[in-house]
Amino acid sequence: MDTLTLIDNRTGKKYEIPIQNGTIRAIDLRQIRIDEEDFGLMSYDPAFMNTASCRSKITYIDGDRGILRYRGYPIEELAESSTYLETAYLVLYGELPTKSELDQWTHDVTYHTFTHENIKKFMDGFHYDAHPMGMLVSTVAALSTFYPEAKNIFNADSRKLQTHRLIGKMPTLAAFAYRHSRGMPYVYPDNELSYTGNFLNMLFKMTELKYEPNATLERALDILFILHADHEQNCGTNAMRGVGSSHPDPYCAVAAAAAALYGPLHGGANEEVLRMLSVIGSKDKVPEFIKKVKAGEGLLMGFGHRVYKNYDPRAKIIKRVADQVFEVTGKNPLLDIALELERIALEDEYFIKRKLYPNVDFYSGIIYQAMGFPVEMFPVLFAIPRTSGWVAQWEELLLDPEQKIARPRQVYLGEEKRKFVPIEHRKTAK
Ligand code: ACO
Repeated sequence: MDTLTLIDNRTGKKYEIPIQNGTIRAIDLRQIRIDEEDFGLMSYDPAFMNTASCRSKITYIDGDRGILRYRGYPIEELAESSTYLETAYLVLYGELPTKSELDQWTHDVTYHTFTHENIKKFMDGFHYDAHPMGMLVSTVAALSTFYPEAKNIFNADSRKLQTHRLIGKMPTLAAFAYRHSRGMPYVYPDNELSYTGNFLNMLFKMTELKYEPNATLERALDILFILHADHEQNCGTNAMRGVGSSHPDPYCAVAAAAAALYGPLHGGANEEVLRMLSVIGSKDKVPEFIKKVKAGEGLLMGFGHRVYKNYDPRAKIIKRVADQVFEVTGKNPLLDIALELERIALEDEYFIKRKLYPNVDFYSGIIYQAMGFPVEMFPVLFAIPRTSGWVAQWEELLLDPEQKIARPRQVYLGEEKRKFVPIEHRKTAK
């Protein structure tokens, strides 16, 4: 076995620590102590910059080379040849389904797209201008109250049923949230349509008896869903695992993950990209905007990634999808500004030095907008497909005998023990 030899210069003692899969176990550092009283050495890693929190078989990323694979399959091949539901099955169960497995899976998900009628009343309680992501986070948590048996997280059949429900109902909740914010009646799922076709139906159906999704837009959305199915230990997934580690039902854990996804540094970024493009307003204003970013006055949203230090492979695929979508919808005028931003940024020393490239969010918002989605729906459109990744990661966590409740340590730098001060003797802290 490979090992690492450490010498503690405080004591002169030497330690040999095993290296496995390119990692040392942080707990092995605990034996390094100056005396019996000493708690032992810890590693300090704010924001988990260099700490693996789990061993996973789901998603592989090589950020320097721009590689993303689900269960070994390159994202490019899945985007080309697979469907979202097939990819979700792969992410969840580890293998591409056979024809009969896929038929059964599609049937199971499709027959769990309806929600309890009380969900509609719940939706109605939201203010007319409530953000759909807030509605989605709350209503997915509310599902926990409809399915109390979901607490049986160590029962494989129960987990399977909740998986069907979660994957099936997320588009319904999302569409209801959208219709509520538009003051429009909710549209029930149509089981004859595909996963994304039905989602478009629940969003956009008006008076027609049968909604017919545009095939190009249906496929484009399906590809976008494939690209968002999983992305290993990002902020949302870390929330899923962190909350899941205390063993609540999966609806509560998915609500936590979706809440993490809502932030502008994560799934809220494409919403921010669109706002940024609208603020820039025209192509000729791009150099001025880049100058401001370089001066530290804000970020170039949709650029940069914690893991990818090269072009995000998903952004490349999305750029191609954009062309197909714009053939149907007409070009989004913000596209020219985005292309100009990308062109200038990729030639600029500031962005080159920091390895800042377009990420998945840079173009997805422009496509979603062209398809008729309001910007508030963007993080929702991320949360729907990511549910398969969250559930896969949750299941992996539960079945991993090494995992326990997630509970990081801290470095305490506060006051030493001191005596309580009666209120009449206290001074205002400066
Ligand atoms: N625009 C301008 N400068 C940037 C940007 C950006 N978008 N991103 C990073 N930088 C700069 C930082 O200021 C820093 O510069 P410095 O070294 O001079 O201080 C350097 O690049 C390194 O950046 P960090 O913030 O340390 O990188 P980190 O890995 O912590 O952040 C993150 C990654 C959060 C994605 C960041 O790049 C960012 O905020 N991007 C914009 C938001 C965004 O697009 N998020 C979507 C991510 S993809 C997803 O969640 C699906």
